[in-house]
Amino acid sequence: MYKNAVTLTDFLLEDERKNDKTTLGLTILLHQIENVTKIIAAHVKASGLVDIIGATGKTNVFGDQVQKLDEFSNKLLFDMLKSTGQVHALVSEEMEKEVIVENSKGDYIVYFDPLDGSSNVESNIPIGTIFSIYHKDGGLLQKGNKQIAAGYVLYGSSVIFVYTSGSGVNGFTLDPGIGAFLLSHPDIKIPKEGKIYSINEAYEPTFDRKLQNYLKNLKNGDSVARYVGTLAADAHRTFIKGGIFLHPASSKNPEGKLRLMLEVNPFAFLTFQAGGIALGANNKNPLSITPKHIHVRSPFVMGSPKNAKAYLSFQ
Ligand code: AHG
Ligand code: MN
Ligand code: MN
Repeated sequence: MYKNAVTLTDFLLEDERKNDKTTLGLTILLHQIENVTKIIAAHVKASGLVDIIGATGKTNVFGDQVQKLDEFSNKLLFDMLKSTGQVHALVSEEMEKEVIVENSKGDYIVYFDPLDGSSNVESNIPIGTIFSIYHKDGGLLQKGNKQIAAGYVLYGSSVIFVYTSGSGVNGFTLDPGIGAFLLSHPDIKIPKEGKIYSINEAYEPTFDRKLQNYLKNLKNGDSVARYVGTLAADAHRTFIKGGIFLHPASSKNPEGKLRLMLEVNPFAFLTFQAGGIALGANNKNPLSITPKHIHVRSPFVMGSPKNAKAYLSFQ
């Protein structure tokens, strides 16, 4: 048992030893994100209980006041990232403004979506945490292709930590018995093609004609539809099974709904690193966009090369 287990911590230290772009500061940061997401995972497991316990006004199973999971996750990530001393600035989906960490000598800017898919929490449907790391020298509004590292944690039937620092994508599954993330998905490569398409079809009437024709065409083929409504879950399934995920612009969301810096760019970085295709506004590479502000939104399509090509043939 565990004879060739590689923990995330081992992997981070090895990556730092091998890869001169991976500094000790980045290793400390990623290790802290690992620590935070283990705590969030424990809270997610008990999230169904929090409301019951919360209704009586007692403290929850972890001894702290009952808090909504996304506020809890946001505060935990914020406090624990700040305490590493490696962070120059933090940008959270839950906070309108960026926070410049006072008197910090940290080199990094961390964008994070502390709880992705929060509308799914009470239905016990998988949710995630997303992070994206830049070097501070480029300032707050850098193109996505300047990301140093990016990743997500998916709190599903198991808890998986997936990240890239520019040399491929690796996935680590949490072993609850020893409380460590173990390398379970080395060098993730998205299948060249897949049968699954993933889009919120409720918005079909708000899509442009080209997209409507593409979706109609899919229904005449042998595709299957899957849609969780948590980006981290729909994207992770696409990495594993192939296919295509779309959260496109619509008459309801002309700029798109997803956040460029907090959701689209981390997953675009991961998608390209896994051999897939990612598309943003006007079906261009989202990583080449200079954001106008930290919460700018973007349409997003990601998936297997063949599926992306078929989508583009309708554009
Ligand atoms: P968040 O909970 O962080 O706001 O993210 C929700 C996002 C994303 O996770 C998902 O892909 C998308 O919302 C689903 O949007 P629809 O409910 O409009 O399909
Ligand atoms: Mn989100
Ligand atoms: Mn969120």
